[in-house]
Parts: sequence; structure tokens; C-alpha cells
Amino acid sequence: MKTDMTIDWDDDESCIVFIDQTLLPGDCRTVRCRDTDRLARAVMRLEIRGAPALGVAGAYGVALAAVTSRQEDLADLLQEVASAAESLKKTRPTAVNLAWGIDRVMERVRGAQDAGDVRRIALAEAKAIAAEDLETCLAIGRHGAGLLPDRCTVLTHCNAGALACTAWGTALGVIRSAAGMGKEVRVVACETRPLHQGSRLTAWELSRDGVDVTVITDSSSAAMMREGEIDLVITGADRITRDAVFNKIGTYMHAVCAHHHGIPFYVAAPFSTFDLSEGERDVVIEMRGRDEIAFCGEKQLVPDGVEVRNPAFDATPLSLVTAVITEEGVISPPFTHHTSPEGEVFKHVTSGDSVTARRPVTHRLKTGVHHTLPSG
Ligand code: MRU
Repeated sequence: MKTDMTIDWDDDESCIVFIDQTLLPGDCRTVRCRDTDRLARAVMRLEIRGAPALGVAGAYGVALAAVTSRQEDLADLLQEVASAAESLKKTRPTAVNLAWGIDRVMERVRGAQDAGDVRRIALAEAKAIAAEDLETCLAIGRHGAGLLPDRCTVLTHCNAGALACTAWGTALGVIRSAAGMGKEVRVVACETRPLHQGSRLTAWELSRDGVDVTVITDSSSAAMMREGEIDLVITGADRITRDAVFNKIGTYMHAVCAHHHGIPFYVAAPFSTFDLSEGERDVVIEMRGRDEIAFCGEKQLVPDGVEVRNPAFDATPLSLVTAVITEEGVISPPFTHHTSPEGEVFKHVTSGDSVTARRPVTHRLKTGVHHTLPSG
């Protein structure tokens, strides 16, 4: 694996270090981020992007707010950190992991005894979230690799790789793990309009790892499926509600086409991306700016005055998803779910097979308040 950690904490300088993904593939440069305003800008500009990486960014953001604050009074410090946390949460609404990472650290610091304790706890919890992310991706990779035939062509959309996480990746983690088992995996990467996370990031990552990757326009996928050139589809997810998978715009189109051609459509995602208290209609789809479509660098692609509609994500109904590959195993919808002392249990409706999300699952209520489900 040649990619450095996408996002990390520098103990010597007490700052966040991240790869600026807007510069790839031409330039792989890291940024040292010393305040939460800069972090918020990085998240909005997609310098840091991808649901699991956003979870880690949110967690480190809370730690950064605590570490850089001059407040020594516990209540004042908690208030300042909470306000920074709220601002960070607003930067991107669709991927649930951002709020999940922020809330997880905030919940821990509320038990602190003094200001020093807040700083120690926040940083320790953020580092734990970052370390878990790698373990989680490796487990997703292990569970998913078995689903791939020994020789196959996988279509993927956007970037659900090391750059979308701290390392390894979710959808690309499955591909990496399968390749590591000696399977001959060829990847078809959709360029992914509007920001080209597929051609810029997925192709960059995989080619550096020596995986056979071909970039196509998003609109080529149906024709390739019809020609029998795609064996399966694997994408990541930004939020999984009780009825749909939210992922980069265009995912739904690939799912419909895969269904039509009888091609398995897998989603690889950690339990931190699940948000089962919400349904498709509750989720805010992020709308992005006109210029992302109207210009390619300096070149104008849309006439002045013509409107552009630029949603970042779409929803794919679970009925089009063959299975979700999680860190605890593979879940096939339709499934039922309930909480147990161990966490959330997902049970396949017909086979009765079950998978348990061992860590408590943080759910987002319609009010925007986040809370952890009580176990039991
Ligand atoms: O807008 P982005 O780049 O943050 O969106 C990310 C995606 O939609 C990815 O495709 C994804 O699958 C979620 S991250 C593993």
C-alpha cells in the first residue's frame, strides 16, 4: 500500500495532517491544519472527503478545538469545543460519519473532570476512531474478498478507497484484499461527475498499487454491462438509512443497470455509516456549486445564464442492493434489525442469518440531535 495516511494527527506540532485531495493526481501534498476554520474549509472544498475520512476529520476537529483553546475553565472550554463541533457538523450534511465522529468525541469529553482532561480525552478518542477505521476497513476487505470470483471485472463509482478513509478503503479495500489473495481483479472506475473522484483518485490509488484499472465515463457503464464486461459492482456509502443507500450521484443509475442485467451490486461500508432511525426522505442531499459543472479549469462548459443542478449524492433503494459488506460480515437486504446488549443485530428476513454491529450504533434523529442507542 503506497498511499500515506489520508488524515492523521501530528503529536509534535499538535495539528491535523491530511492529503489535499483536490490536487491529486497531479500533486500529492499534505497540509498541516492548525485550526478548525481551516478544517471546515478543507471539508467543504473536498480536500478531505469520503465518509469514513470525514468521521476521522470530525473527531480530530473536536480534539483540535480542545487542544488549541486557551480556556482553562472546564465549562467554558466545553462550550467553546461544542460550538466548534456544531460548526464543523454543518459543513457537509449527507455523509453521516462526520456527525458520528464529532458526536462520539463530544460524548466522551462531557465526562471530563477538568480542562486538561478534556484535551487528553478528546485526542485519545479521536486517535481511537482513526485506528478503528483502519481495522474496520481491513475487516470489510476480508469479508468482501470472498464474494469476488477468482478472475473478475469490478465496476466502482467515485472513490471509496484509502483516500476516503484513513487507509485501505471500503469498496477498494475489498478489491485490495481480493488482489492480495491472488485473485485477478480488473477494475472499471467511473470518472464520477462532477468532481472526478473516480478518474482522479480511484485510478491514482489503484494504479499505484499495481491493480489493473480502466477509467470510463459514468454514462458508459450500462453499455459495458450489456456487453457482459462487468461481473459485479462495488461502491461505498455515505449514509445507509433503513430503506436506501446514499452515495455519490450516479450510484443509483449503476444499481438500476446492474439489476436490469442481473449483475450483483454490493455496497461496502462500516456500521458508522448506518443511520437506521432515518428513511430516504429524511436525508438532506448536499447541493454543490454551479462552477463545478460549468467550468473545467478555466474552460467554460455551460453558457452564461443557464442553470445547473449539481446534487452530490443520490439514494439507491435497498431492493437494488445485493448485500452490504460490513466489518462484521455481509448483510443481505431485506433485513430486520433490533438492539441487543452487544449492539445492533441485523437479521436476514428469509435465511435468518444474523450479523451484529458490536459497537453501539449512533443514530441521527430528525431533530438533528445525535444520541447513542441504549443497549438492551
Ligand atoms: O463527496 P465525497 O467525495 O465525500 O463522496 C464520497 C462518496 O460518495 C464515495 O463514493 C463513498 O462511497 C463514500 S466514502 C467511502
